[in-house]
Amino acid sequence: MTTSTTDLVSFLTQAREATNAVLGDWCDRIRDDLPEPVGEAVEYSLTAPGKRLRPALVLGVFRELGGHGDVSEIAAAVEVVHTYSLVHDDLPCMDDDELRRGRLTTHRRFGVAVAVDAGVAMVPLAARVLAAGCERLGLAAETMGEIGMELFRAAGASGMIGGQVLDLEAEGRPVSLDDLREIHRHKTGALITASAVIGAMAAGATAARIESVRAYGREIGVAFQIADDVLDATATSQELGKTAGKDARQHKATFATVLGTETAMEEAQDAVSRAMDHLGGGGIDSPLLGSLAKFVVDRRS
Ligand code: IPE
Ligand code: IPE
Ligand code: MG
Ligand code: MG
Ligand code: MG
Repeated sequence: MTTSTTDLVSFLTQAREATNAVLGDWCDRIRDDLPEPVGEAVEYSLTAPGKRLRPALVLGVFRELGGHGDVSEIAAAVEVVHTYSLVHDDLPCMDDDELRRGRLTTHRRFGVAVAVDAGVAMVPLAARVLAAGCERLGLAAETMGEIGMELFRAAGASGMIGGQVLDLEAEGRPVSLDDLREIHRHKTGALITASAVIGAMAAGATAARIESVRAYGREIGVAFQIADDVLDATATSQELGKTAGKDARQHKATFATVLGTETAMEEAQDAVSRAMDHLGGGGIDSPLLGSLAKFVVDRRS
């Protein structure tokens, strides 16, 4: 089951606005701590208009699993990690991109050294935002520790960074579908999975329900990156706010190149169905989480 499009749009809008408000407050708070122009580069990156999908997942899972209180600061902490990953992903030594969220990439605007520093500065910032968010929610120290481990494990070598290494190693090489799934599960899936799991943990969900949410997150994480690959090949730079057609130019193996865009999207849809099954199997009846899973593959940007 899913919610109406209007309900989903209004939920995503609320999630985006709540996240932007928290990020704006934190940018004001940290500007004095950071040497310029690194502070300006952090603010430039964090206030750029992203979809805020990961925070929406934290907020959505939290709400649907009966969480009480304001989880928006915890949700924003995940977005800080995600934004840092984009700043570094765009660097000349990685994907070498000039456009992000409809603006010049951070290194194009401030230079490579400042962009590297700004990205690194966002990692401890994420930890501060997360700790403040856990405190605001009144979580026990143990839960706060578990949430921190979830986020930073997902961001690290066994998650996102490991995936980025595999992604770059695979450039210009023939890659099997299984290898590609592995890359996507790490580089993108890990943080998306963590977003859903953190929402469940913050809501005080049982271990069994947390694992159902984890399985849901894993499926939509891979589906999200498949959709990203297909959009790279089919959408315009204006729609995406980032350079379209970049993967082909960089000889990246993607689901779109390996399977073709149509079959790739079928794979993504199958993953979304499995995600829904995991929720159902865990006794989680949530039209909103169903709609969020569908949004991951139906989006145009
Ligand atoms: C882009 O993520 C990078 C990937 C992991 C595919 P998003 O598509 O969520 O980008 P923003 O946050 O909306 O800019
Ligand atoms: C980015 O994947 C994954 C991370 C930032 C960890 P992509 O390289 O496909 O993302 P875009 O297309 O540049 O947004
Ligand atoms: Mg990349
Ligand atoms: Mg990239
Ligand atoms: Mg991409």
